[in-house]
Amino acid sequence: MKVVAVQWDCRFGDPEFNFNRAMELMEREPGDIYVLPELCLSGYNFNDIREVEDLSEESHGNYARRFMDFSLERNCYISYGFAEKVSEGVYNSANLIGPDGLIGTYRKIHLFNRETLFFLPGDRSLKVYDTPIGKLGLMVCFDWFFPESARILALQGTELILHPSNLVLSWCPDAMRYHALWNGVYTATSNRIGKEDRGGRLIEYIGRSIIYSPQGELLAEASYDDEGACSAELVLSLAREKKLNRYNDRIQSRQPEFYSEISVI
Ligand code: ACM
Repeated sequence: MKVVAVQWDCRFGDPEFNFNRAMELMEREPGDIYVLPELCLSGYNFNDIREVEDLSEESHGNYARRFMDFSLERNCYISYGFAEKVSEGVYNSANLIGPDGLIGTYRKIHLFNRETLFFLPGDRSLKVYDTPIGKLGLMVCFDWFFPESARILALQGTELILHPSNLVLSWCPDAMRYHALWNGVYTATSNRIGKEDRGGRLIEYIGRSIIYSPQGELLAEASYDDEGACSAELVLSLAREKKLNRYNDRIQSRQPEFYSEISVI
């Protein structure tokens, strides 16, 4: 089972360009599961809420249907980030699509920086999708900063975490190793490259799309600034083995009765 993390310089405000670029890069690297960046159709560095609304679509919208066509034609799965239009506003969401259509939509719960000005905070729990290809979990970019995100997905049996991102904090590609290791899951992060200079605010993205094994081994990594993809062959059943040794198990050795949330700050 081959997972492919795709990265490119998403062009702000040009979903058609971005969709076609995604298609070209996916066609170049055949795979079973693709992960594309966060907000990969719209771009990220919004000036105001009107731009967010103009560049949003429903979870079953036009681009979702076009991704579904690709997925059906190639018999593959695709996760991608997009601005999800609902009647009350817009979520920073990720769709998971398979040959039978839309499997699920995750709405980012940990909004980063100015996203808090434009997006509704996610209103659904992180959850695993039990698909014919394996148990897949979704989280979006800054969710990585909260260890609970990957843990909650792992506790539900997730074998592979798909992680569409627009990373600006340089720690993430290395930190994902520990989400993989601590939880005994595969992780595949897709992060865009390039810069967006809008309204006097420059954002520079760090590329380095990255895939780890449940033992925290680096399986594949893309460059800081080249468009393209990185990919790896995964055996998802390996993510069901949580033992570290005869006496310790990533899940069973936890001591949840001592983890109750006591706030001291
Ligand atoms: C981020 O959550 N896009 C940094």
